[in-house]
Amino acid sequence: MFNTSVYKARRNELRKDLSSGLILLPGNVDSPMNYKANTYHFRQDSSFLYFFGPDRQGLTGVIDIDDNKDILFGDDDDLNDVIWMGNRQSIRSLGEKAGVDESLPLSELEKILTQARDKGRKVHYLPPYRAEKLLRIENWTGIHHSKVEKQASSELIKAVIKLRSIKSPEEIAEIEKAVDIAHAMHITAMKMARPGIYESEIAGTIEGISLSHGNPVSFPVILSINGQILHNHYHGNILKKNKIMVTDAGSESDMHYASDITRSVPVGGKFLPEQRDIYKIVLKALQESVKSARPGIPYKDIHLKAATIIAEGLKDLGLMKGDIQEAVSCGAHALFFPHGLGHMLGLDAHDMEDLGEDNVGYDDDIPRSDQFGLAFLRLGRRLQKNFVLTVEPGIYFIPALIDKWRSEKVFTNFINYNNLESYRDFGGIRIEDNVMVTSTGSRVLGTPVPQTVSEIEETMVTGSC
Ligand code: GLY
Repeated sequence: MFNTSVYKARRNELRKDLSSGLILLPGNVDSPMNYKANTYHFRQDSSFLYFFGPDRQGLTGVIDIDDNKDILFGDDDDLNDVIWMGNRQSIRSLGEKAGVDESLPLSELEKILTQARDKGRKVHYLPPYRAEKLLRIENWTGIHHSKVEKQASSELIKAVIKLRSIKSPEEIAEIEKAVDIAHAMHITAMKMARPGIYESEIAGTIEGISLSHGNPVSFPVILSINGQILHNHYHGNILKKNKIMVTDAGSESDMHYASDITRSVPVGGKFLPEQRDIYKIVLKALQESVKSARPGIPYKDIHLKAATIIAEGLKDLGLMKGDIQEAVSCGAHALFFPHGLGHMLGLDAHDMEDLGEDNVGYDDDIPRSDQFGLAFLRLGRRLQKNFVLTVEPGIYFIPALIDKWRSEKVFTNFINYNNLESYRDFGGIRIEDNVMVTSTGSRVLGTPVPQTVSEIEETMVTGSC
């Protein structure tokens, strides 16, 4: 955990933004895989981690705004727990580290919430993303489970997003540690990307690297020679020469901050000329986007600039045509770049997405577009100093989408469908870095992962892993 003062300061900032009532922040509980005692890897709730810190099942934090008091609820281990899990810290000791005023057993939580209900006090909670949490909130508040999500506190959602969006130096240091683990994962993936090996061998090895640093991956590894499938978790293909392997993978730091890095490399270590051409366009979009990031600029503008670079590059290759500004404003580039440029990064790979993508990434000034492609942009609003985000442009050749658009004669003024035929088996290329916004610009976090064509080719030929 961070120093106690960090959690106290965060809770004090939070209570300043809410008028009255109780803030209820339930941590997570274990979730069974196939029978009760066989659980998935435990992952603590990120907002609970942010405001209280303990990485332990079955805890709940309460911030009483009116009484200016913070309480940690949880039950101490009994003898059976000690026999099966060993001695763990007491709830009181965890509460001391979190800097709360009181630590109480869970049975007290129900009493406190019942009293609050009887007095008509407001109980603020965040939208639950797990069924067991939704049912606990129903039990605690008396709100029917069908209404629990809808009645989550928008005041609390806004206040939490405001705080968690701005990363402190200690949070940025954690994200950099997670990027450094991702660096080791990606170097290994590059060196292993030889013809004849299964995707699963590489995916398993790099997930093992994350685990060997003490922490799991920050999201399931995406690794595929079918990179045109944006989030491909199938790892059953054998690598073939002249295919591009896309690896989108990150780790968690000890404090559960995430990294999220993507590299696309040629199986066997040498880009074909047409692969190099596409790669360089994506790389230019990435580098120009990083250069453009600074406080005050809407991320949507940077996304559109990246889309323009991609469309111009594709025009130079004869795959697009016509007025490129017009093509981008109509969304024609989305045939090749159908996703957003990036998202917030922090305690979650898609930071705070449980609080609502639009709440995190948009505001009254910049609402989400409904245009195909742009609609998938998770972060559109103006950047602020100490935001941390991903920058992840890509170019993909998705046969199903090409066929649909072609048969419906979509954007025939901007797309050279005939020239696309030879790219049907190309796959896709995505390159992604993790970036913080500084007072004047931006900084790529962590140890740089090989990125240019020559850096990648050199890494891939320098021996095995
Ligand atoms: N890099 C995985 C994702 O953004 O969902």
